[in-house]
Amino acid sequence: MDPERRLPGTDLAGLPPGRYGHFAADGCEYVITNPRTPRPWANVIANPRAGLAVSQTGSGFSWIDNSQLAVLVRWGQDLAEDRSGRFLFLWDRDADEVWSLAPSPCWPRYDRFACRHGLGYTTFETTYRGVRATWTLSVDAEETVELWRLRLEASGRARRLAIVGYVEWNLGVAPAPRREFQKLFLETRYDEAARAVVAGSHMWDLPSRRWGHWNRDFPFWSAFAAAQPVDAAEGDKGAFLGRYIDWRRPRSLARGEEWAGLFGRHHDPVAALCCGVELPSGGAWDGGFVLATAGDALGALALASRFAHPAAMDVATAGAVERWRSWLATHRIETPEPPLDALANDWLRYQAISARLFGRAGYYQQSGAYGFRDQLQDSQVWLTVDPQRCREQIGLHAAHQFADGSVYHWWHPLSEAGHVTRMTDDLLWLAFVTASYLKETGDLSILDDPAPFLDDAKPASLLDHVERAFEKSFARTSERGLPYIGGGDWNDGLSAMGLEERGESVWLAQFLAGLLADWAEVHKRLGDRDRPGRGAELLARRHALIAAVNEHGWDGSWYRRATRDDRSWIGSASNTEGRIYLNPQVWAILADVAPPRRASQCLAAVREHLVTPAGALLLAPAYSEPDETIGYITRYAPGLRENGGVYTHAATWAIAAAAKQKDAELVATLLAAMDPTNKDSDRYWAEPYVLPGNVDGPASPLEGRAGWTWYTGSAAWLPRIVSEWVLGVRPTWEGLRFDPCLPPHWPGARMRRPWRGASLEIEIARDSALAGGEVAVEANGVALAGDTLAEVDTGAELRIHVRCG
Ligand code: GLC
Repeated sequence: MDPERRLPGTDLAGLPPGRYGHFAADGCEYVITNPRTPRPWANVIANPRAGLAVSQTGSGFSWIDNSQLAVLVRWGQDLAEDRSGRFLFLWDRDADEVWSLAPSPCWPRYDRFACRHGLGYTTFETTYRGVRATWTLSVDAEETVELWRLRLEASGRARRLAIVGYVEWNLGVAPAPRREFQKLFLETRYDEAARAVVAGSHMWDLPSRRWGHWNRDFPFWSAFAAAQPVDAAEGDKGAFLGRYIDWRRPRSLARGEEWAGLFGRHHDPVAALCCGVELPSGGAWDGGFVLATAGDALGALALASRFAHPAAMDVATAGAVERWRSWLATHRIETPEPPLDALANDWLRYQAISARLFGRAGYYQQSGAYGFRDQLQDSQVWLTVDPQRCREQIGLHAAHQFADGSVYHWWHPLSEAGHVTRMTDDLLWLAFVTASYLKETGDLSILDDPAPFLDDAKPASLLDHVERAFEKSFARTSERGLPYIGGGDWNDGLSAMGLEERGESVWLAQFLAGLLADWAEVHKRLGDRDRPGRGAELLARRHALIAAVNEHGWDGSWYRRATRDDRSWIGSASNTEGRIYLNPQVWAILADVAPPRRASQCLAAVREHLVTPAGALLLAPAYSEPDETIGYITRYAPGLRENGGVYTHAATWAIAAAAKQKDAELVATLLAAMDPTNKDSDRYWAEPYVLPGNVDGPASPLEGRAGWTWYTGSAAWLPRIVSEWVLGVRPTWEGLRFDPCLPPHWPGARMRRPWRGASLEIEIARDSALAGGEVAVEANGVALAGDTLAEVDTGAELRIHVRCG
């Protein structure tokens, strides 16, 4: 590695192109050149309130505040067809020919096609019939406005064209399977002066205690506005497209057709805006459309008019892109593998923030809800970017806890509807993520942050919230000292094991034991201020859990997973299916529950039974038949998702465990296995630039096929694990520890990251004079006594040299 090279600037120029596209040289764009990808390859572009999903076909959907309950344009989840919601047509009025400026819906045979997915935007570049079009979709960094910036250029003769922006209104819960019913409540108006169609709905199909069933307006209005003069506007789908649609030939886009202009409350509401474009020979034209949303029609129109100009759109798009860049600039790595750098530095953290935290949406799942454990874990992505945002997420989740310590499994912003389950781990993630925040920032004041309970408005401190979660968990312990699994632990699909509160979870015991070590430390640091003796009590409980896990959970060569209510085991060698599960092996190591010999044994068992070319399987062998005593995990087809697939969220944890055990070969194997950039797309199917939720395991006839992209907890975890466990730069209670476990073929690596107000430039290099696992660290030329950097001065710039064996 060249020590002079600046850290930001992953160079992917040398990477061979894939069958459907390639990374741009700086890694921040993926350029799809063949739109017939095996599945939609999407981008999820969002700010904290508004967002859109768009695939390489141009299809997708848009939302405000909640990607399930407040979807603005129509969306049908059909990944095979991928045609819905928003289209941009070009009508050549001389030749009387129509095509779309993204493949959907017309699928013209472009002379040139590129879909550039970037961080905060997607651009379609097409050339057809001598018209070169550039269409960029983005979302303003703050405002609830989606931008469609368009540029047309003509090679050759002058052209008389028309550009037609088209959206189908949804304005409510999506997908809307009862369109004939839902459309009865929609209202549209055409505002000529604003060059905009504004739309709202007089019904929102949400049950609500406050308003009564479905008895309220959708709380937003949207305006679809043109940045150029409008020649004709249409508000009815049939009037615009004709009966029994031929998408390649919308009825209204033909010479001599009158536009009826049907707006109001009695139609099938869409917005189509037709804008004439005179393009001189060799000339260029700039324009576009915006989709602006606000609390009422006037607000939506006002917002639209602020942005509906090419220059305003350019400023907004550049601002949004710049904000992504500045967020992602704070924490960079540079390894001998540029694709890994592009993923860890840019794409995966973008995936975690844009899709998981802001949009809570992907092509395979439009959730809109906050999963109690899900978005809490995701929010750890902010720790090296803007830790205050992680703190706010912790506060938000604390406020979705009941006074008895239990929590919603998920809840919906906007409606505040939440799901009460008998899941037994959700509540503990509050303790987990708060401990991560404390180790990163050292700022104990978060423990005093007040938050109410769902059933008690009186605010209590975060420490109190965490303590109640612990107490609730302690109360759910079997007579042999293992926690009950209830309606599932991290594994949602283990949904039937413990409904009678007898079935136990070995993984949960390990997870809890790890947390107790952290929270004993918290109490030590508080000087037992709040609860004298609590630290010692938590440690005693930890030791009891460790003893119970090792007495009952050890199967001979690995840790068992759980018992049913009748105390029969899963994840044991005595089972024929589901004999070994990944999580109990990994967390035995991560939570320091396994004695050293067992730690090596269970990692060896992972290597032997679970490692595949796509990562570590969640369990093996897959269940072949539904088993109603285990739960819905057994109902997935064998090899799919949690049922014996690579479930990437858990597979990332396996990398941390391998690194902790200093198994550098396994670290290298698992990193390469999970890397989406090196796959054969026709077998893998999914996007090469983000992580999928799962990859089919060996029991599937389509082994190696990935799905559920964008909407996965692995996006936040993988970059963190690469930084903290592979490069080994890990926040601990004592300070920032340097403990790398580099893949054997790496000579070294570099990192830039903030640390408690200082900025660190870290260089890691192998040193043959040191034994494996040994490190020597210097900060600004001064050797550290150990491997941990404790105190730093705010504003300090430190150059850290780490040598490792
Ligand atoms: C889904 C859930 C997540 C759970 C995981 C494993 O991703 O959203 O909460 O941990 O599945 O079952």
